[in-house]
Amino acid sequence: MSDIYEPPEGLKASAHIHAMQDYRNRYAESIGDPAKFWGEIAKGFHWQTTPTADKFLTYNFDIRKGPIAIKWMEDGVTNICYNCLDRHLPQKGSQIAFYWEGNDLEDEKTITYSELHREVCKFANVLKRNGVKKGDCVAVYMPMIPELIISMLACSRIGAVHSIVFGGYSAESLAARIIDGGIRTLVTADGVWRGNKLIHSLEVVDQAMAIAKKAGHPIEKNVVVRHLIRLHHGNGSASEKEAYEKILASSWNNERDSWWEDEMKEASEQCDVEWMQAEDPSFILYTSGSTGKPKGVLHTVAGYMLFAATTFKFTFDFRPDDVYWCTADIGWITGHTYVTYGPLLNGATSVLFEGTPFYPSNDRFWQVIQKYKVSKFYTAPTAIRALMKFGEDFVDKYDLSSLKVLGTVGEPINPEAWLWYHKYVGNSKAAIVDTYWQTETGGHVLTPLPGCTPTKPGSACFPFFGVIPVILDEEGKELEGPAEGYIAFKKPWPGIMRTVFGDHKRFEQIYFSRFPGYYMTGDGAKRDADGYIWITGRIDDMLNCSGTYCFDFLQLTPQTKMPLMHPGHLMSTAQVESALVEHSNVVEAAVVSCPHPVKGECLYCYVTPMEGVHIDASMAKELRILVREKIAPFASPDYIQEAIHLPKTRSGKIMRRILRQIAANDPDLGDTSTMADSTIIPSLQEGRRKVV
Ligand code: WT7
Repeated sequence: MSDIYEPPEGLKASAHIHAMQDYRNRYAESIGDPAKFWGEIAKGFHWQTTPTADKFLTYNFDIRKGPIAIKWMEDGVTNICYNCLDRHLPQKGSQIAFYWEGNDLEDEKTITYSELHREVCKFANVLKRNGVKKGDCVAVYMPMIPELIISMLACSRIGAVHSIVFGGYSAESLAARIIDGGIRTLVTADGVWRGNKLIHSLEVVDQAMAIAKKAGHPIEKNVVVRHLIRLHHGNGSASEKEAYEKILASSWNNERDSWWEDEMKEASEQCDVEWMQAEDPSFILYTSGSTGKPKGVLHTVAGYMLFAATTFKFTFDFRPDDVYWCTADIGWITGHTYVTYGPLLNGATSVLFEGTPFYPSNDRFWQVIQKYKVSKFYTAPTAIRALMKFGEDFVDKYDLSSLKVLGTVGEPINPEAWLWYHKYVGNSKAAIVDTYWQTETGGHVLTPLPGCTPTKPGSACFPFFGVIPVILDEEGKELEGPAEGYIAFKKPWPGIMRTVFGDHKRFEQIYFSRFPGYYMTGDGAKRDADGYIWITGRIDDMLNCSGTYCFDFLQLTPQTKMPLMHPGHLMSTAQVESALVEHSNVVEAAVVSCPHPVKGECLYCYVTPMEGVHIDASMAKELRILVREKIAPFASPDYIQEAIHLPKTRSGKIMRRILRQIAANDPDLGDTSTMADSTIIPSLQEGRRKVV
């Protein structure tokens, strides 16, 4: 059994929710009478028309009974930008909304609530002047700079739907999103330095616009932030500057392109908000999932607003004197909900970080935490694992005593990384919140609460208010008690997506057809004897341990028999990864299922060793023993391949689909456009021949 970590005493005393009984009572209220529970919370927001109790929630989650439909507070009228900014101005006008920390150490600035409000009003007027109206979709392709947040909120203010495209995406990916969203207006930047690397966004955007135009979707207006030139006078070499001028000259089109600063010069600081129906669309954000073309996940105004604000408040136990920092890019949902909307809706002060954890050196995160005395910090397991490699000395040099809550999101966190985060970053005094959610869920659906939940490393613990998780077997039967299967949700919470943009059938098919009556997440999970939920990974990353595995199962000793490993049940490759990375010479591991002539499926492991180490027969043996001991003999890796680099998405997720295809010797790797560095593919394919 894993250890339990009690909430830190300091936090417990003053937390919003400071006892498990309090959590249980409020949770019971939230699912017993959602209209009452969320209705109370809604009172904390500004409404032009208050939603009535009658129409608070109407929905159909059962495809057999008709189309899937979810409506929260349908007759309410509000505006999310007004609730993020205007509402706070009387008390918080001069409070800092964001400390902007640029890529380079010398690039920093602050922006207060009233300054942010002024810039948002001005840019909203710029959009209107350029013909953007309520309901129009605007795409934003930018680095992590204040103008990105200003653009989002300006859209929300006038009722335009924003589609933020991560600033690291390729021209093809941007074009696909322009086409799918029917975009006519773009907001972009001229370029950005990521660490030492100069990215000419101008060129990418120009290519994307050319692709979209060819497909019959010309961009009419592209407003460009002069970011490179404004900030990095001294940075670039003469040849880089020359390249910039060249790209600018060849791509610039006076009819279509204009500089942000020129547009803003004449814009008025007064801009009335557009009052929105609760269920009007607020934004689209594309998520690729593991297969198929990206889906435009659509969120609406009021439900998302309530859920973003409430999850932020409770999961991070928000206090007015906090300095909060979420390292995610706004191009992902984590950035939407927990860089922009959640913090602003609560009137928080946050850090907005443009750089990378590794520039100018590998201690940048710790240095920024010390600099701003960050109290609540939110990052991804992949970042934690990457930083662990450099050892504790990099952390110890800094005063991180301001930290109270440490969050993680994005994938299951292996206990080793959890413990490192807890011990070295949190000095064993901060609460760890492992938050499980998806682009589709809008905000946290499973998470510990820092002041009350005793945590287990690697478990996302319990549901957030209003969320009803179930574990289903292959037939869609709800499993009680300790069990492993598919995690699904039984009823809607306010932040759940409403549709796939332009394709409601696809929405119904992906999320509601396999298990009628439930929202299917696509993830596997297990519930332990204490009711804790452990996400085991995407369903595609599970394999069925039946067949010969049954036979192996019978050979288990009592010590290695794990309750979830029944023959014929799903097993997740994440457990095997977690065991492999416990080896002191292993940095990272990715395990996939691979077709096997006898067993049907077998375990194929890609392992990144520490620098200077190679996986020879004796190390492979050690790894197999480790897995047998930690999990069970039947989980012993069939193949181990040394992999210096693993294929990752730009958000840092390991692309197991690619690894599955390489393991199966499939020559066609399909769409690799979301991959951060596709040049590593040949060496992975080559490495297949040297498996041990
Ligand atoms: C998928 C959603 C939600 C923001 C970031 C990713 C995985 C996310 C956890 C966690 C285990 C997690 C799931 C999920 N995931 N958080 N705490 N523990 N798995 O958003 O790109 O929509 O990905 O990320 O597999 O389905 P996304």
